[in-house]
Amino acid sequence: MSEYASTHAADPDQIPRFAVFGSPIAHSRSPLIHRRFGEESGIALNYTAVECRAGELDAALAKFVHAGGRGANITMPHKFDALAACAAVSDRARRAGVVNTLRRDGDAWFGDNTDGSGLINDIAERHRIDLRSRRVLILGAGGAAQGVLPAVFDSGVDSIVICNRTPDRADRLADLIGEPTRVRTVYWDDLRDAGMFDLIINATSAGHGQGMMDLPFSLAGRRTVAYDLSYGTAALAFLAWARAAHCEHALDGLGMLVEQAADSFEVWHGIRPDTEAVYRELRAGA
Ligand code: ATR
Repeated sequence: MSEYASTHAADPDQIPRFAVFGSPIAHSRSPLIHRRFGEESGIALNYTAVECRAGELDAALAKFVHAGGRGANITMPHKFDALAACAAVSDRARRAGVVNTLRRDGDAWFGDNTDGSGLINDIAERHRIDLRSRRVLILGAGGAAQGVLPAVFDSGVDSIVICNRTPDRADRLADLIGEPTRVRTVYWDDLRDAGMFDLIINATSAGHGQGMMDLPFSLAGRRTVAYDLSYGTAALAFLAWARAAHCEHALDGLGMLVEQAADSFEVWHGIRPDTEAVYRELRAGA
């Protein structure tokens, strides 16, 4: 089966093509999610996962366009390169400085970022957690953290502290918002003295590797929501820490994945599908 092979049985050449580009991508749930959204909305679409290594996004997108590609999701490690590939971007993508959704408008890409809205929707709508006046800790300062930071900032939280293993990157991320009284940084070694947080977001990629992060239990209390932007095995270590720290909620990023997909679907098709059925299906299989 080619990388652009149809997920539909009939007239594959007539069906609009969409894809997620990233590496590693083999275990992506996005093709299933978008297939379900298409079925639910009555929109025929062909959505595949394309393995694409760092530095190869432009070439892969050119090939995709040639094959009739109309829209794409972009994941690790291409979210910065995706912004550079766009002729125009949404306000939220410009603010985030990273793009996870591409739409072909004429002969150019329009870029958007639905990661932030996906995260906030999952926390506030699915889990019914009120973010107003929360003290937030974001762990990590890479593309994942950058993608959600403006949306977290805009959600009514009281303050955000960013902590990254490499402190310079945390400082750069905080500067993107430019509100030093509400967004500041802390050294990892100083986390022990940073107090307790209402929401702790793990935006590091530590769960994809071997090492577990060294996180003091003093960061969490019984009202704390711990949220890992990853899901599956990559989220296990952080969620185990959160339970051991007696957090009120220990949430993985599966809900965010479904919500950002629904927002991307709306960017492409003008309809926001209902997310609950596919979320339950994925959760049951997780
Ligand atoms: P992504 O797009 O997933 O954000 P990234 O831009 O490579 O990927 O960023 C990965 C993030 O995870 C970084 O904040 C990284 O910290 P550094 O900037 O210090 O590299 C963080 N990270 C990865 N492994 C980690 C670990 N074992 N402990 C702590 N932070 C880690």
